[in-house]
Amino acid sequence: MTLDKILQSQGFGSRKWCAELVDDGEVSINGEVVDDSRERVETAGLQFKVFGESWTYREHVYIALNKPANFECSRKASHHPGVLTLLPEQFHRRDVQPVGRLDHDTTGLLLMSDDGPFIHRQSSPRHHVPKVYVATTHDAVTPELVTLLLEGVQLHDEPAPLAAVSCRMVAGHRIEIVLAEGKYHQVKRMLAAAGNHCVALCRAQIGKLTLEELHLAEGAWCYLSDAQLALLAPD
Ligand code: URA
Repeated sequence: MTLDKILQSQGFGSRKWCAELVDDGEVSINGEVVDDSRERVETAGLQFKVFGESWTYREHVYIALNKPANFECSRKASHHPGVLTLLPEQFHRRDVQPVGRLDHDTTGLLLMSDDGPFIHRQSSPRHHVPKVYVATTHDAVTPELVTLLLEGVQLHDEPAPLAAVSCRMVAGHRIEIVLAEGKYHQVKRMLAAAGNHCVALCRAQIGKLTLEELHLAEGAWCYLSDAQLALLAPD
């Protein structure tokens, strides 16, 4: 692929802008400036620098973000900044999107990608990858609450009761709830239907990928390796 096209595919701007970047000597490969935007370059394993910043060529990006509260996952964020504002600008131009949604006040593990089929697969209702949430509750967690959530609670607009895959008390006002589906406000609505109230919610795990092992500070993100992506597959 020519270098201008490579840069465009990686989100550095229009083809014309990328050609100018190269022709102006702002791009280097293996420590050497490449100033011909039509030069053909092998993309496999390509490392390059733009304005001195290092990048690796990636056909698609797969990202894990430790989402802070008060960021929206919707494309057109209205009341709070969007989660995309937490990522480098290159990713906006690559059309990176959240995989599913977390409420604006929910924190924790959020996947993001520019790979349409991956996003579709991960967010499909038929893709039963368990998601682990830790909720802080208004009222104390009781054994009855745990039992109710395990047996299933009826939500207003659902045809049948929804049950947690597993559920356990973590502390006096903290409960871990594992869900197989991702219905709108599901954890909060299930807790409300069980007579309690969710005051804070964090997604701690998707499939076998845990937020803890990613060591991400709030608002920080990382690329996911192939091994980490494999942890997202259903059993
Ligand atoms: N359940 C909720 O209620 N909110 C979320 O953000 C995720 C799951």
